[in-house]
Amino acid sequence: MTTLSTVKGFADLYPDESRIYTFMENTARRVFGAYGYGELRTPIMEHTELFQRSIGTETDVVQKEMYTFPDRKGRSLTLRPEATAGVMRSYIENSCHARESVSKFFTCGPMFRYERPQKGRMRQFHQLNCECLGVHEPQLDAEVILMLMFFLNEIGLSELRPEINSLGCRQCRPGYKKLLTAFLRRIDPESLCEDCRRRMETSPMRVLDCKVPSCREQTRDAPAIREHLCSGCDEHFNTVLGLLDKEGVDYTLNPRLVRGLDYYTRTTFEVVSTSIGAQGSVAGGGRYDGLVQDLGGPDVPGIGFACGMERLAMMLREQMRLDPAAQAAPDRPDFYLAVLDKSAADRAVLAAQTLRRAGLSGEMSFEGRSLKSQLRQASRLQAEYCLMLGEAEIAAQSMVVKHMDSGEQVNIPLASLADWAEIRYEQKQQRHRKGGAQV
Ligand code: HAM
Repeated sequence: MTTLSTVKGFADLYPDESRIYTFMENTARRVFGAYGYGELRTPIMEHTELFQRSIGTETDVVQKEMYTFPDRKGRSLTLRPEATAGVMRSYIENSCHARESVSKFFTCGPMFRYERPQKGRMRQFHQLNCECLGVHEPQLDAEVILMLMFFLNEIGLSELRPEINSLGCRQCRPGYKKLLTAFLRRIDPESLCEDCRRRMETSPMRVLDCKVPSCREQTRDAPAIREHLCSGCDEHFNTVLGLLDKEGVDYTLNPRLVRGLDYYTRTTFEVVSTSIGAQGSVAGGGRYDGLVQDLGGPDVPGIGFACGMERLAMMLREQMRLDPAAQAAPDRPDFYLAVLDKSAADRAVLAAQTLRRAGLSGEMSFEGRSLKSQLRQASRLQAEYCLMLGEAEIAAQSMVVKHMDSGEQVNIPLASLADWAEIRYEQKQQRHRKGGAQV
């Protein structure tokens, strides 16, 4: 029989790893919530057409990377390769624009792209995603970039800097594309990669984004879009940059930043790390002013971004390796309840429940092992206290409590177990209030 394994490019996240994900999600909810973003949970599967119409039929994502299959009635469905399209579908379907002039959504969860798996690139990966609909003004673009950088800082990644570009709008971009195509046609096609030879005619701006060294070399002197923006886009971009300057954001202007999805207009940005290998883009986003209308909705502008959780987790793990102090001890259980005689097990279940009702965390022993082995287990779990309960303790209506770090041992009456637990809980809360947010 063949062994059962995960699908290639998919991974299990065990508690040590998912703790980092939970930390990122909770920080995202707190930070994005402070800017007015509420959580929207959209389905992980949508009609294929949604992604074709939003991401664009010429993109790598739609052409090569989607998990698309027919359902039992032959309708084409696709596992979401990103969150934006689903949020737009939901916004239009539920007429959100009729209820509120500005909508802000935070979405997180698994995304699926059939790419070649490698370090930092999975077929199932997770994103933290924000979308804001209804605002044309460039001040929002600046706020969104500031919010992203604030979030990265809050999870402990303060060294990152955004790369920024403007992709113009439907008025000025066609003219720039013509110029760029004319420039590209003057290049010897043999010196471009196969993808770029094709892209040159279908989406010339994507040639600028190609990572193949010979393509980069050939397009070094390509016209930069910034010099060909219409006055509206130029003013918009300058306002965004001016605000980032005033807030002291250390950004890089990257005229080659075109993003891999077709819906972007005006401000686009990406945060790239050099410390996690070739797949260094940890977050990316931008404005998409025509998207809602293209999908059959009202003429509502939008902007958003997504962070890749696998890549952020890699950075956080690397940071913890270099600086273990950056990592809080994994949530230490408050107690381990050692059961000294099997006949005390029923009473132990109830005692453990009393402790948890008071807010403490911990486990009891079920297997009836020796006291020595149970104490070993308590230390292995790093429990703060080991409580011991056996027949003799039940007869005496008290139990032994050992503080595992100091070795100090006291007896507490069973009747005051809840009071004891409440005091421990209050002490724990005080400690938490003093320590900051850590992974
Ligand atoms: P994206 O640049 O395609 O943008 O993806 C955003 C982030 O997801 C990337 O920067 C990367 O960290 C992560 N990511 C993408 N593919 C993979 C993969 N195969 N394995 C691991 N991580 C990956 C979007 O998805 C847009 N929807 C962002 C957006 C929201 N734009 C506007 N609103």
